[in-house]
Amino acid sequence: MAPQPASAATRKHRRSSRPLPQCLSILVLALAASGITVGSAQLSSEDYYDGSCPAALFTIRSAVATAVLLDRRMGASLLRLHFHDCFVQGCDASVLLDDTASFTGEKGAGPNAGSLRGFDVIDNIKMLLELLCPQTVSCADILAVAARDSVVQLGGPSWTVLLGRRDATTASASLANSDLPGPTSNLNALLNAFANKGLSSTDMVALSGSIRDSPTAGCFVPVSSPPSSSRAAFVPVRAGAHTVGRAQCKNCRARIYNDTDIDASFAASLRGSCPAQAGGAGDAALEPLDASSPDDFDNAYFGNLLARRGLLHSDQALFDGGATDGLVSAYASDADRWGGDFAAAMVRMGSISPLTGTDGEIRVNCRRVN
Ligand code: HEM
Ligand SMILES: *[C@@H]1O[C@H](CO)[C@@H](O)[C@H](O)[C@H]1NC(C)=O
Repeated sequence: MAPQPASAATRKHRRSSRPLPQCLSILVLALAASGITVGSAQLSSEDYYDGSCPAALFTIRSAVATAVLLDRRMGASLLRLHFHDCFVQGCDASVLLDDTASFTGEKGAGPNAGSLRGFDVIDNIKMLLELLCPQTVSCADILAVAARDSVVQLGGPSWTVLLGRRDATTASASLANSDLPGPTSNLNALLNAFANKGLSSTDMVALSGSIRDSPTAGCFVPVSSPPSSSRAAFVPVRAGAHTVGRAQCKNCRARIYNDTDIDASFAASLRGSCPAQAGGAGDAALEPLDASSPDDFDNAYFGNLLARRGLLHSDQALFDGGATDGLVSAYASDADRWGGDFAAAMVRMGSISPLTGTDGEIRVNCRRVN
């Protein structure tokens, strides 16, 4: 049932009006050399559901497009959901499981509680897919495709999502607490957290950069722009940024009050809406958007770091006199290079320890084991 990776090329030919054989073979080789080797099991190509659930990818893409139209930040939230899934037991949808009598799930873990969003969007997609093709499309694959579609919807680069993940029958709150990097991490801690998942320092910088921190002010995520018409793999598409996605005051408080590697006026402006006192309602304050968003959200993020305007301690750690300074500078001046590295890193992240073959199951309800 599962086609071999080479058929990804076929699919690209179908999608594209003109064949690009050289690029396609490079793409297939790149995927074979990178994404597939991270986990112990092998994922299949993006054609995986073409026979068993032909409408699967279209259904996910449409639902993501709708969700992001209603709430631009949802694109950021869905991307983060996939990251928080993959770093805990691998990309197995463990993050979606509710607590039960026999295990405590990941939703209440430190990095996730009161912070992860998008569960309802995934539930809706799963409900549609269960109507179309019962017990066929895994929750873990839905997360992987939704993350890619979100990035594309927000004007970022696209990539070919490898498929064939199956769903875990258990989750781990303790692994969520230990394996997800925290906002006060220094560079070594960040590099270790990614190395533990088989990801390089380049992957770490490229992935972190897309995301949370806005090219503007506040602890947020840059994102948005009109949906892109180009869906070619590895081709970054950039457009006017419009910030969505955010972080809570409690996650940047220590930085904006105590860090020394921060631009003074930037810190001062954040203190206005993020009170120094912990424990109050201010903890959850989402910093306001700044209208000064540059046109290229990716470039701007890295440029921000050069200006000591990283929003979390862990962001500025990427450019703070350490080994990743050069890469941050390179991405700041070359958005295409960032886009290609980001896409490749997403394929690798999406391939962390998947369950395949007869391991795990295809959940009927993403919140519960069957
Ligand atoms: C490098 C280590 C990383 C750290 C320390 C980190 C930490 C954080 C923190 C603290 C927040 C704010 C949460 C809140 O206040 O509620 C956040 C938001 C976010 N992160 Fe990360 N993150 C990291 C890497 C990543 C990666 C690799 C991705 C995806 C590929 C990602 C995607 C996001 C997104 C999209 C948001 C915004 C979510 C929303 O607005 O709903 N992060 N991150
Ligand atoms: C800043 O550092 C001081 C001294 O270590 C500490 O007492 C204070 O709580 C810190 N403030 C924040 C907001 O983290």
